[in-house]
Amino acid sequence: MISAASAFAAWQYLPAPLPQQWTAAELATLQSLSLQQLPPPPPDPGNKVADHPLAIEFGRQLFFDTRLSSNNAVSCASCHQPERYFTDGRALAVGIGSADRNSMGLAGAAYSPWLFWDGRKDSLWSQALEPLENPVEHGANRTQLARLVAQDHHYRDQYLAIFEAESAQTVLDQFADETRFPDASPNGSAEQQLAWAAIREEDQHHINRIFSNLGKALAAWQRTLPVMPSAFDEYAAQLTKNPELQQNTLLTRDAISGLRLFMGKAQCINCHNGPLFTNNAFHNTAVLSAPGVPPAAGRSQGLRLAQADVFNCLGPYSDADPAQCQELRFARGGDEMIGAQRTGSLRNLAYTAPYMHAGQLATLDAVIEHYNRARVAVIGHNEAKPLALRAVEKRQLKAFLDSLNGPVALPLSLTLSPTPSPKQEPEPR
Ligand code: HEC
Ligand code: HEC
Repeated sequence: MISAASAFAAWQYLPAPLPQQWTAAELATLQSLSLQQLPPPPPDPGNKVADHPLAIEFGRQLFFDTRLSSNNAVSCASCHQPERYFTDGRALAVGIGSADRNSMGLAGAAYSPWLFWDGRKDSLWSQALEPLENPVEHGANRTQLARLVAQDHHYRDQYLAIFEAESAQTVLDQFADETRFPDASPNGSAEQQLAWAAIREEDQHHINRIFSNLGKALAAWQRTLPVMPSAFDEYAAQLTKNPELQQNTLLTRDAISGLRLFMGKAQCINCHNGPLFTNNAFHNTAVLSAPGVPPAAGRSQGLRLAQADVFNCLGPYSDADPAQCQELRFARGGDEMIGAQRTGSLRNLAYTAPYMHAGQLATLDAVIEHYNRARVAVIGHNEAKPLALRAVEKRQLKAFLDSLNGPVALPLSLTLSPTPSPKQEPEPR
């Protein structure tokens, strides 16, 4: 006769039942998530130097340069720290002042037709221009930046080698004249806006040209940022060799069960799909706004901003043919997109906490609970439905998300750069 206690003890040591075999359909879905399926970033017709080696190197230098700010202390890397997969460990980003959004990771951004949580930019090069002039981020102005390029010999030489050498040189020579080219920007302080309005239209155009070219170099560098394979990708690779594979040392049983939930009951794959685990589309998932911040209008506003942007694909600084601007011309995003944000990637979440557009959720447990509950949206309509996941299933889903972390891997070019200063924020997770 076996006592209840010893039966329990014996049960504890029984191996958990083997997960079922993957069906052919499940295997196909699983493989569609593998990094092996990731092609090179799509071309960016708006940026003719998108893959130019000198532009990549110039962009790398710009990315780490704190002179691109009003106080000489902020660079892109202040908020996009390579060792945190290009995030900053904060809920809300901090530059010159405090932003109202969570910093986004950059590896993989080159694959998205829309940038920012609300998609208010339609290219990587045009995106880069916004933080430079945002008063709480770099707080710089475009004339100051154009002057830096004109007057720093190292930058000037690179600029001339990359962008239309002959015409550019004569323009750069004029920047010594500070009455003609004062600190000014149409997005700056009232004083800077007045100064901008007083600049001759032709000179405004020269400044905008240099400014947009800085964005193009920054984009070229960001296109080279690698996304590194995770345990999940190794598992997927093993499965291609041996579809019967059951036991393995790559994924725990929990992670495999979590993967099954991810593709099934938990419905995550409806929006988090493809090798980067994002459809790069906009959805309202009823993420609560941060305390004291009004609910974000999201994509309904983002698309209007992108359409009105002088630096968009159809604008005068784009290298694209209008026929190549399909995304912008045919985008949908009216009021039905209110409260919708861009689906985030699920790779390397261990480095990028806290989560969501304003860092509202500190941990993956909180994220999973958020989807499990699927509350009613404060604005718009929550597309996600309650999931009724049991405690064990939540744990399994989390184990799967944990299998999507790769090593911090940096492009070779990064090893040449100054190390960004460590932030005093707590470690992610
Ligand atoms: C003060 C912190 C801060 C600085 C400095 C900063 N960023 Fe960001 N970055 C953010 C935040 C916050 C977001 C999300 C903002 C939003 O969606 O409204 C973001 C978003 C982005 C995105 C969009 C990614 C995506 O997938 O849509 C890119 C690309 C990016 N930043 C690149 C840069 C570059 C290049 C620079 C330097 C020119 C820079 N950032 C400077 C905080 C910063
Ligand atoms: C209806 C589409 C949709 C579904 C279904 C969905 N997500 Fe999301 N996910 C999003 C969107 C949109 C965001 C960004 C929301 C925001 O910031 O307001 C997001 C953000 C996230 C983030 C944060 C990413 C970051 O960088 O901050 C995680 C983690 C996440 N989702 C996990 C999951 C999991 C796990 C599931 C399944 C239980 C799931 N999602 C189901 C659309 C979806």
